[in-house]
Amino acid sequence: MERTMTIIALVWLIAVCGFSTTSAEESSKAHSLDDGLVRTPPMGWYPWNQFGQEPQNEQLIKEIADALVNSGMRDVGYSFVGPDEGICFYRDSNNGLVTNQKRYPSGLRGLGDYIHKKGLKYALYTDAGTLTCSKAMPGTKGYEFEDMKQFAKWRCDYVKIDWCNTEGQDIIKTYTKLHDAQHAAGRPIVHSLCSWGEGEPWKWAASVGHLWRTTGDICGPGRADWELAVTIAFENEKLYKWAGPGYWNDPDMLVVGMAGLSESQNRSLFSLWCMMASPLIAGNDLRNMSASTIQILTNIEAIGVNQDPLGIQGHIVRSAGNVSIWAGKPLYDGSQAVLVFNQQSSPADVRIEWSDIGIDKKDALYVRNLWTHKTSGPHTDGISVPVDANDVVMLRISKTNKFPLPPIIVADSYLVSLRATDTTAQSLSATITISNKGSDDLPLWKVHKELPGWLTVTVSKNGNKQTLTNTISTSGLKKGLYHAIVRADNTEPVSGKPMSAVYYDVELEVPGTK
Ligand code: GLA
Repeated sequence: MERTMTIIALVWLIAVCGFSTTSAEESSKAHSLDDGLVRTPPMGWYPWNQFGQEPQNEQLIKEIADALVNSGMRDVGYSFVGPDEGICFYRDSNNGLVTNQKRYPSGLRGLGDYIHKKGLKYALYTDAGTLTCSKAMPGTKGYEFEDMKQFAKWRCDYVKIDWCNTEGQDIIKTYTKLHDAQHAAGRPIVHSLCSWGEGEPWKWAASVGHLWRTTGDICGPGRADWELAVTIAFENEKLYKWAGPGYWNDPDMLVVGMAGLSESQNRSLFSLWCMMASPLIAGNDLRNMSASTIQILTNIEAIGVNQDPLGIQGHIVRSAGNVSIWAGKPLYDGSQAVLVFNQQSSPADVRIEWSDIGIDKKDALYVRNLWTHKTSGPHTDGISVPVDANDVVMLRISKTNKFPLPPIIVADSYLVSLRATDTTAQSLSATITISNKGSDDLPLWKVHKELPGWLTVTVSKNGNKQTLTNTISTSGLKKGLYHAIVRADNTEPVSGKPMSAVYYDVELEVPGTK
């Protein structure tokens, strides 16, 4: 087959040039939340892209949570899961939020417990206005503090806050109030702002949230739209200076694996989201995935680029015709990620010259292909890369032939549940185990000191697994339910930068004496 030759010389904008910032950007970053949440882009699943509002219910979410585990997705970092706009709660006559028991018979707290026991984290959905988009559920307007308290009681870890039915509301004040309300409720919750770019949240939302939608919806429920997804990626790309650890541009949930896309289109979109350090929130039906979709969504080498602890959003450094080269994404080990995206209906050959990328042409560099998982080199001068039609080549380029994976943290459970027999003094204990799926060993997790008197947590290490033993002494405790949130921190081993904190719930029931 004849190959159309497109020769592109890559101009590598080295990190220093690519990240000069204006004062507004500096101030947005200076005020980013420092709560240890999602210091790498959040990963998980939300129902909207595939299902829309129907048939969202407890059974669907539980089946998806099971599929996250069984498909291996949990073990490469996907963790947040829960309902989007489905009819999951009402506002009752006392103005409190109550579960729609018809759809969620275990209650929204019961669903959260199920998710936490699977080693996953619990995501919910609400709206900043009077009603959600379809007007099927109440929004938070006027009840911000009460609603955030209820979300905390449901043990929610992540909330997507939509911007429908907000006529007359000031966007900055509204999302600030919601952040303050969440803070007052005392539970660390990732705030995902969803104003589709309205109000330019990248300029101010780092101080009140962790990620913000930069564009409109990526598809209508049930079917992916390739042209729209690519347009959204290119819109989001322009905002690369505004993202970093704990504050992310969100070009919407993934459409990978949905009807309407070829395998190469799935691979291309996934790679673009990885290069842009975008949240990896899958949107397909995880219960029915082809082998190819699973292989794309769980490509840990691509995910390693997305989850890099430096948290830098890559961007286009050169494009010609329908071929673009994305770089400006230095990684924690000193390597660089590079993506070549060919939107042509014919293959392209792309030449990357070392001299174009600020590296001495005599330097011998190793090149790792993150989709074929093959390393070549050392190459001096540069490298030529053939790229198929509507496809990508995703690379890591390094002075060494080692391509370590950054830490990818997976817990066996985020819920410790204990029950004493009665109020006599007794010691109970339960563990959670945290694994690191990255290449480098991690130091011991450090447990934050603010624990109640009845709880002690000790940490032990066995290879890449660490066990947090929670010991409870019921001595002096009265009958009742006790709850604590444990926060453990670590540092990423090479750069020494902080990692996303691990939070989990410890609950204790002390029944009365018989
Ligand atoms: C908006 C959001 C979508 C989805 C729907 C629910 O359109 O952008 O992601 O949450 O609302 O109605």
